[in-house]
Amino acid sequence: MLPQFRPLFPEMFTLYIEPFLGGGAVFFDLQPLEKSVLIDSNFELMNFYQVVKTKLDALLADLERHENTEDYYYHIRSINPDHLTGVGRASRFLYMNKTGFNGLWRVNRQGRHNVPYGRYKSPQFRDEANLRKISLALQNSELVCGDFSQALAYATPGAFVYLDPPYHPLTKTARFTSYTRDSFNDEDQIRLSRVFRELHSRGCYVMLSNSDTDFIRDLYEGFEITTVYARRAINCRGDRRGPIPELVIRNYR
Ligand SMILES: C[S@@+](CC[C@H](N)C(=O)[O-])C[C@H]1O[C@@H](n2cnc3c(N)ncnc32)[C@H](O)[C@@H]1O
Repeated sequence: MLPQFRPLFPEMFTLYIEPFLGGGAVFFDLQPLEKSVLIDSNFELMNFYQVVKTKLDALLADLERHENTEDYYYHIRSINPDHLTGVGRASRFLYMNKTGFNGLWRVNRQGRHNVPYGRYKSPQFRDEANLRKISLALQNSELVCGDFSQALAYATPGAFVYLDPPYHPLTKTARFTSYTRDSFNDEDQIRLSRVFRELHSRGCYVMLSNSDTDFIRDLYEGFEITTVYARRAINCRGDRRGPIPELVIRNYR
């Protein structure tokens, strides 16, 4: 999506805020010189970034011990991450993300990870050069584990806020919004649109991605809406693999 997104970014901003960080594709593409605030509600993910930022050598050492076998994967999966150190937890997270099926991170209602072993020949779970680049890119950022509304605690005039929430489902069966125990429902989309408006009234540049549904178009009526086209990599339905229209909504031109 980045080639379609780049022309839509503001030319200048004073602070970068990304409240649904995930893999951080936009943050790592921009690598802003300005200070950044990076937020996600997934504790495992934010602990991982914190460790990459501040304890990279310890993480690299810990990653050495992992093996890519089915038995070992299920052993690591069965460990309760609350019993690990921050570094051990980040190491488990990266190992499982790279060796688990399709790179998915999915938990059940009890919060236990339930993705099966991926059977990949040589997954890269200790890519030192890449981890060092990521660590460097994170040095000027504040990492926050929490709800997207935390962005309001940091938003000052001239800040650029990029919002990439779990998408509003196109159909009820296309509902894949449970990244963590709490799924993202219509109420959350409405709550998000209020945060969008509050950021707008504070003089921030606000850009949001979402699916192209009537519900989303109605929520952001009056703002600048651009259609972009996505090829979705993680999609169990073959007929949805072609380019599908999605929306980028901004409060600026
Ligand atoms: C669509 S993904 C973001 C993908 C990201 N742009 C990337 O490049 O990978 C949505 C993210 O929002 C996070 N999330 C879900 N609910 C949230 C909430 N209420 N507040 C903050 N983050 C949330 C999920 O953990 C997930 O990482």
